[in-house]
Amino acid sequence: MFDIELVVGDLTTMAVDAVVNAANSTLLGGGGVDGALHRAAGPQLLEECRGIVARQGGCETGDVVITGSGELLARYVIHTVGPVWRAQVADRLDPLLASCYSRSLELAAAHGLGSVAFPNISTGVYGYPKERAARIAITAVRSFGRRETSIRTVIFVCFNDENAVLYRRFLDAASAAES
Ligand code: APR
Repeated sequence: MFDIELVVGDLTTMAVDAVVNAANSTLLGGGGVDGALHRAAGPQLLEECRGIVARQGGCETGDVVITGSGELLARYVIHTVGPVWRAQVADRLDPLLASCYSRSLELAAAHGLGSVAFPNISTGVYGYPKERAARIAITAVRSFGRRETSIRTVIFVCFNDENAVLYRRFLDAASAAES
């Protein structure tokens, strides 16, 4: 199992091998963490995303693409598209949110990366209930952590205390259940 850390802060400042962007399917930027990453990375990030879109189209919900990071401290950006919350189809959306985390880690491992930082995907503009999303994120990351890969550290970066309290509680409970 790799180390799982929790910080309250700004994903754009993380000095890790890869930061994970909560993108949209166009890959052409937006608000929230997507907008913050593009602003901090500079125009070359958007240029690289445009190239991907031209070659293979956008990114499906639950899927991932990797790019360089422009001016960011991180070496790479892994772009993933979380599901938009709709209560009536929640059971269909949960696996897609889990896939954002597991496929991001698979892609990071395929590139031999050691450290990955995640935002709280889908819990902003996409409206996912924070507690439900936190449980899905932690379960997906801990499940991947049982594999032997290059990944040594995964960091959950919460932008607000509400998410941080939830992640702290669920991470502590998961550790206690294992010991
Ligand atoms: N660092 C870390 N977390 C951040 C930052 C930041 N700089 N900015 C926002 N967040 C947090 C939000 O508070 C929220 O908890 O990231 C989480 C995800 O929120 P969004 O960025 O709104 O992402 P999401 O809910 O997945 O919606 C994606 O929003 O920005 C657009 O282009 C994006 O259309 C896509 C949609």
